[in-house]
Amino acid sequence: MNPSAAADRTAYPVGLRLAGRRVVVLGAGQVAQRRLPGLIAAGADIVLVSPSATPSVEAMAEAGELRWERRPYRPGDLDGAWYALIATDDAEANEAASAEAEQRRVWCVRSDDAQAATAWTPATGRSEGVTVAVLTGGDPRRSAAVRDAVVEGLRNGTLAAPRHRDRAPGVALVGGGPGDPDLITVRGRRLLAEADVVIADRLGPRDLLDELPPHVEVIDAAKIPYGRYMAQEAINAALIEHARAGKAVVRLKGGDPFVFGRGMEEVEALAGAGIPCTVVPGISSSISVPGAAGIPVTHRGVAHEFTVVSGHVAPGDPRSLVDWPALARLRGTLVLLMAVERIGAIADVLVENGRDPLTPVAVVQEGTTAAQRRVDATLATAAEVVAAEGIRPPAVIVVGDVVAVGPAQGR
Ligand SMILES: C[S@@+](CC[C@H](N)C(=O)[O-])C[C@H]1O[C@@H](n2cnc3c(N)ncnc32)[C@H](O)[C@@H]1O
Repeated sequence: MNPSAAADRTAYPVGLRLAGRRVVVLGAGQVAQRRLPGLIAAGADIVLVSPSATPSVEAMAEAGELRWERRPYRPGDLDGAWYALIATDDAEANEAASAEAEQRRVWCVRSDDAQAATAWTPATGRSEGVTVAVLTGGDPRRSAAVRDAVVEGLRNGTLAAPRHRDRAPGVALVGGGPGDPDLITVRGRRLLAEADVVIADRLGPRDLLDELPPHVEVIDAAKIPYGRYMAQEAINAALIEHARAGKAVVRLKGGDPFVFGRGMEEVEALAGAGIPCTVVPGISSSISVPGAAGIPVTHRGVAHEFTVVSGHVAPGDPRSLVDWPALARLRGTLVLLMAVERIGAIADVLVENGRDPLTPVAVVQEGTTAAQRRVDATLATAAEVVAAEGIRPPAVIVVGDVVAVGPAQGR
């Protein structure tokens, strides 16, 4: 029975387990050089037949990775082979070897004539224990392009392919960056794609949550200022509970987990419960949000230091650990987080302790997102401008001469 044209282009995909099995390679040029590493990695018992070889192939023979018979093909070479790669530069030898393969029922790949072959080599790639093999039935460039897209997607997590076996147990504490979904790390995105449970903050790349498959449980740990509040203890308990249930848990936090993120409290709680924890750093809003609004936190000849300060309690509050008078005496940049509501009191204490009231100030709300907004003021006017412009958290406030450097766009 003659196969139909469509069937003739359709290969049956299979993964050959070649460890310890005889594979004959005829020819030792560029094609063999490209294919041999995969055969070696598969543990094949490789017999290479060729009068000459490229230096790389020769090195494989010298390293004992294959046996090299320095001569042309002769009938009988495929005896005992499970698989053959025919890639000599002698068309007659290729024909003869191909006929021998057919007669001995040895699957054979041919470099010179794909239609005469009984097997095709897919474009292959590997990522994180996954082998990707692509056949397009006669378009090797397309096969390679699809392979590259899939491998790249697996590497960076844009292609969700969660592990169901051999998963690293425990919790991944992932810094999600300031909000733009492109500003999470490659590792963070991959772990997110593999998660069963994601416990997410209000800040960070929330758009990525929409991309998660429906079976993923997303728990909102939003700590909205003056609004709903999930106690840290409840977050810790949820992390432990889901990890103990064998779930792949991602704790997705805004910015970097260890910059005003209570990340170490979660690490300690997990350690106390005997649960492994992986920390994936993130891009902190303290640097990236000013940067996205055109403000460098340092600039040659302007600022040789920057200090990141939490404004979540006002100056003078007994709970405050910040030495505001000392900060007022510094020349460098101050980056204030969680300070929108207290900017008036903060500006006052800085001016009272020596900072110039004309020091430039920029307030950047919802930096790196589509809603990003920047307003400029001085220490003397900051509170008034913030109120007049209706600035709301989250915002980063930058105090210092760096605010005035660079091109004026974005202000
Ligand atoms: C609890 S802190 C967490 C900081 C975070 N761990 C980091 O490294 O960016 C929250 C504060 O970060 C700042 N923030 C975070 N994301 C922001 C964004 N996209 N735009 C402006 N400010 C942001 C705001 O000051 C907000 O009140």
